[in-house]
Amino acid sequence: MATRAKKHATGKVPAGDLTQRVGVEQIDARGVNVPELLEKLIDAAGAEFTTYYYYTILRMYLAGNEDYKEICEDARLEDRAHFELITPRIYELGGSIPYDIREFADRAGCPDAYLPGTEDGKQAPSADGGGPTAAAILEVLLEAERCAIRTWSEVCDLTFGKDPRTYDMAARILNEEVEHEAWFIELLSKERDGVVRPSGHFRRGTPGEAPYSKNAGFYNP
Ligand SMILES: [Fe+2]
Ligand SMILES: [Fe+2]
Repeated sequence: MATRAKKHATGKVPAGDLTQRVGVEQIDARGVNVPELLEKLIDAAGAEFTTYYYYTILRMYLAGNEDYKEICEDARLEDRAHFELITPRIYELGGSIPYDIREFADRAGCPDAYLPGTEDGKQAPSADGGGPTAAAILEVLLEAERCAIRTWSEVCDLTFGKDPRTYDMAARILNEEVEHEAWFIELLSKERDGVVRPSGHFRRGTPGEAPYSKNAGFYNP
């Protein structure tokens, strides 16, 4: 009996060629502009990385508000998880993060989440010991989450139905960013305006659980 040709045994990339990737060729063939996607992923990874850095400072200055600190910490560690999740994908697609961290920070797709009262990070907050208010810090956190939602929604749009792997990663990250926005709306609304706007949040299982981006179990007793 004649051996039947296997439809997917060969393709555009010659056998043994290591200079091309079928994983790139296939999404390109489905309409993804891979160089453009790569630039957006690098910008987005930069934003996750720098936000992780700035949230470290913001969390410190939520001193005395243990509940806010804990929630800020979840958002902070989940941003690190987002960086970890998306960075290998940049390399799979043939890209690289910048070799100089300064370049990486500068090209981040979202603004620096500076501690309020530091003149965009140029000075320490006021010397009277009061520090920025919790409301001012929560405003910075909220707007950072909103930038992240816009970013990952765009990546989902660029990859939907064409690049299932990047789409899956972006959608996982987006799921957490939407939760983060809801958390900070709840906290800021009560703190600044005295208005109750529940987020549906109770708590992560452990700090930075990242149920979507780390594929961890949901808090679902
Ligand atoms: Fe994030
Ligand atoms: Fe976030």
